[in-house]
Amino acid sequence: MKELKTLNKYFLKYSRHLGWGILFVTISNLFGIFPAQLTRNALDVVAGNIDTYRLFNGFGLQNDFYKLLTFNIFLFGILVLSMALLKGIFMFLMRQTIIVMSRHIEYDMKNEIYAHYQKLGLSFYTSNNTGDLMNRISEDVGRVRMYVGPAIMYTINLIVMFLLVIWAMVSVNARLAFYVLLPLPIMSFMVYNVHDKINKRSEAVQAKLSDLSTFVQETFSGIRVLKAYVREKQFLKAYSIQSSDYRDLSMNLVKVNALFMPSMLLLVGLSTILTIYVGSIEVMNGRLTVGNIAEFVLYVTMLTWPVASLGWVVTIVQRAAASQERINEFLKIQPDIVGGNYAPERLKGEIILQNVTVKYPQSGTVALNNVSFSVKPGQSLGVIGRTGSGKTTLVNVLLRLLDPSEGNVVLDGKNLKDFDLGVLRDRTGCVPQDVFLFSDTIKGNIAFGLKSKMDLSKVEQAAKDADVYDNIAEFPMGFNTIVGERGITLSGGQKQRISIARAIIKQPDILVFDDCLSAVDTLTEEHILSNLRRIMKDRTTVLISHRVATVKNADHIIVLDEGSIAEDGNHQELMAKRGLYASLFEMQLLEEIS
Ligand SMILES: Nc1ncnc2c1ncn2[C@@H]1O[C@H](COP(=O)(O)OP(=O)(O)OP(=O)(O)O)[C@@H](O)[C@H]1O
Ligand SMILES: [Mg+2]
Repeated sequence: MKELKTLNKYFLKYSRHLGWGILFVTISNLFGIFPAQLTRNALDVVAGNIDTYRLFNGFGLQNDFYKLLTFNIFLFGILVLSMALLKGIFMFLMRQTIIVMSRHIEYDMKNEIYAHYQKLGLSFYTSNNTGDLMNRISEDVGRVRMYVGPAIMYTINLIVMFLLVIWAMVSVNARLAFYVLLPLPIMSFMVYNVHDKINKRSEAVQAKLSDLSTFVQETFSGIRVLKAYVREKQFLKAYSIQSSDYRDLSMNLVKVNALFMPSMLLLVGLSTILTIYVGSIEVMNGRLTVGNIAEFVLYVTMLTWPVASLGWVVTIVQRAAASQERINEFLKIQPDIVGGNYAPERLKGEIILQNVTVKYPQSGTVALNNVSFSVKPGQSLGVIGRTGSGKTTLVNVLLRLLDPSEGNVVLDGKNLKDFDLGVLRDRTGCVPQDVFLFSDTIKGNIAFGLKSKMDLSKVEQAAKDADVYDNIAEFPMGFNTIVGERGITLSGGQKQRISIARAIIKQPDILVFDDCLSAVDTLTEEHILSNLRRIMKDRTTVLISHRVATVKNADHIIVLDEGSIAEDGNHQELMAKRGLYASLFEMQLLEEIS
């Protein structure tokens, strides 16, 4: 339960809601008790006067007496109704304070978790799957909300009502009170057990449902592969096996659910019978009035639901504690990459790598091995290497998405770790290797790179520079075309170029291209690169590719091989070396001709 202490700060923040809530609960319960006492009085009035009424049999006065009696009963009725109305109003206010508080807390928690997620580095995202991250922020927060809202509300209600009702009962007749209260703990324990079962079974149902939706989702995203390999029948079979499991689990749940209400009602009935039985004996012994029995029956019904809810509240609290523990686990993780204080307006763009080595802890792969090079401000650097040679790792190091295990990165004469992360990444434009477009318009996707307001002329210019303007203009909706769930309406090359436009629209001081021209033809590539030379004049550019054609005009080229620099120099120098670079060049030239 200590995990739930984390939530106390929220109770403090919303203590006003909570305070009012407790007051409203108390008042609404008072209005629940008065009607029981009124009913007792009404019945006693009837029971006490019925004999007098009979005495007047045959007299004209009987009619007047009858009128008086019924008027009295009518008044009681009106009173009971107004009490119910008042109780309703205060119950409304109780929900308006406590449940509203829980929604506020839910909102705060979701924001806190989301903000924390964004602070965490890439290693966090590679070691946790997306489903888990989603669950923390939706399902677990939802369960915690059940604790800070309904559970707290029912507990306060239970305590207040118990104190009031027991006090009222004992002040009438302690013996009867004892008998009436007897079955309640049993009921509470039973409800706890049943709820526990219901929870376990519904969790199993939920888990199966999530399996089922993952399966269906994968089928739809991979529909092209599925159809091409004619696997519809197998998938249908796999699906029906999964969904029949789901059905069986649901049936299991329905069984417990169906038993719940009848057994509750049975216990309530038993309590009522006990009350009437013991009450009647007390009446016969002259220690109670008939009205008292009615009053007690009303108390029993009043107590039933809160007592039943006790078992339910216990399960809610247990689940909330488990959820909060999972949330706390995530919140405790500290970001492994923290920025410094140095926040210059602009970057000059001098990059120096000193003996940088990167080893991925999960796999032990040494992705970069003792890499050193320097790029002068305004120069362009080409990086070429075969697949898996460490190029993307180098990009991650430059953007500080990853810290080197050994060695230093020096930018503009300062250690990269001294830079404010926001400034560093804001002034660096990066086009990642795997394109990601948001489900938004093309315009929105390109303007994502802008910090300021949307500026259509800038968007269009960026699209022209990335050589994708003509393609976009051909779409019926132009720049307002919505990119499908994962950009399915665009070709690979179009997506890459939109991703390039997004990076150049922000006019960064350093531009990093991670193999992002792989899906465009050589002619388009030429266009883009010559546009880039104009845009990136006097700014540093890092061009990464596995194609010689992309990097050959760079001022300086390094050739990566299994994480180490195998060769470096400009195109002519490297060709003269007749090493790896030259062989790559010849191979790719051959490929293009053939
Ligand atoms: N998150 C990671 N965890 C463990 N190993 C990784 C991780 N990312 C990359 N690697 C490994 O590091 C090596 C270099 O990967 P990297 O992505 O830098 O290559 P690359 O040169 O960009 O390749 P490509 O041209 O295919 O994009 C590879 O052996 C890869 O398996
Ligand atoms: Mg790569």
